[in-house]
Amino acid sequence: MSQTITIEPVSRVEGHAKITIQLDDAGQVRDARFHVLEFRGFERFCEGRHFQEMPAITSRICGICPVSHMLASADAGDRLLAVEIPDTALLLRRVVNLAQIVQSHALSFFYLSSPDLLLGYDADPAIRNILGVAAAHPELAHRGIRLRQFGQSVIEAIAGKRIHASWAVAGGVNAPLASAARDRILAGLPEALDTARATLEWFQRSLDSHAEEARTFGHFPTLFMGMVTPDGSLDTYGGRLRIMDAAGTIVADQLDAKAARALLDEEVHNWTYLKSPYYKPLGPEAGAYRVGPLARLNVADRCGTPLADAALAHFRTLAAGPVLGSFHYHYARLIEILFGLERIGELLQDGDALGTDVLARASRNRLHGVGMSEAPRGTLFHDYTVDHDGVLTAVDLLIATGQNNLAMNRAVTQIARAYVAHDRLSEGFLNRVEAGIRAFDPCLSCSTHAAGTMPLVVELRAADGTRLDTLART
Ligand code: NI
Repeated sequence: MSQTITIEPVSRVEGHAKITIQLDDAGQVRDARFHVLEFRGFERFCEGRHFQEMPAITSRICGICPVSHMLASADAGDRLLAVEIPDTALLLRRVVNLAQIVQSHALSFFYLSSPDLLLGYDADPAIRNILGVAAAHPELAHRGIRLRQFGQSVIEAIAGKRIHASWAVAGGVNAPLASAARDRILAGLPEALDTARATLEWFQRSLDSHAEEARTFGHFPTLFMGMVTPDGSLDTYGGRLRIMDAAGTIVADQLDAKAARALLDEEVHNWTYLKSPYYKPLGPEAGAYRVGPLARLNVADRCGTPLADAALAHFRTLAAGPVLGSFHYHYARLIEILFGLERIGELLQDGDALGTDVLARASRNRLHGVGMSEAPRGTLFHDYTVDHDGVLTAVDLLIATGQNNLAMNRAVTQIARAYVAHDRLSEGFLNRVEAGIRAFDPCLSCSTHAAGTMPLVVELRAADGTRLDTLART
């Protein structure tokens, strides 16, 4: 008699989802699936709108990722205008994107994942949260909260207090940076850098105690995709994409958004609203790829800033080639925080930072444009087709979390194989499945275009469909 375990909903993840684990006749895990249950149809809703409204409209898709959508959308708009945006506009968009990465990574690491890392996967769920961390490790919790606030303050100082206001627009940005705002950001950098460095050192020292998770939380070969500069350094906005295989061979390089999007296809399943993108030339199985911090560090030759490059050298001692364990998304996230802060400092001290030429004015000059940004969770594509008046006739959004869907399913299966025994679910198992998904930092609000929080239910079913056990967390 085979069995199915379903986990629904996943706590400390944005969105709404459920996990089903199917056992075989021998009581071993045959398969595990990560279902996403809600759907809002944002793409269809955008058809009929003018493309110049899209940075503001799409920034409302998600309360977690508004900046990433705004910037990918503005990039798509630049293509439709067929302009090269002013240097200052590109610089400011880059800074805001990095600040979004810093604040989002801080949220993921300190608020969502540090309870598992500090208090253990078997700790009481009642204390395994940021409040539990604040009680046990007040200094770390406090510094994490301050770091996130710093990232948010940079976004506010440049793009305005209301994140949903349209600051980035097709052709550039709608306001230059005031020197007083620049100075305030620079004044806050040393404390943020200090926190990032101290947290990274602590994580590196504790790596040995996470060896089991590093081995079982989604450790498998896939392709990796991330943005690089023309010389192969880590980039998060305005660069080109590189795709690398699990052995470290570069499969494709220096792709613009349109060329990269053309190489990706999506599989649709009847059990989830999350589509499963894959690298078309290799097909759905071998073409599975990961995006996000782990992928970006794997594909880049270097970060290009001193502290992050020192950390990257240490990161690379984990494996002979690309780092395959999804647990190390955490590690990569901490290195990217350091990189983001260093780059923000460099960019804001550049002579162009206070420039006042920030907007290229043009009318629509193309009928199709694909834009992208490296969102905290990975590459985000906005693909727009318009008519001669600039009214959208087709909108395709390829979201970072969706691109990690195949990998997240493999991770859940691997964790279930390591921790599910027989016909019962333990709290420790539930925690590990959640933690395995959380390593990817999925934004399910974004990827299914659904709003709301994400509770998780796990269900255990026999081969004949009999439900043997259920664990729910709301
Ligand atoms: Ni989102």
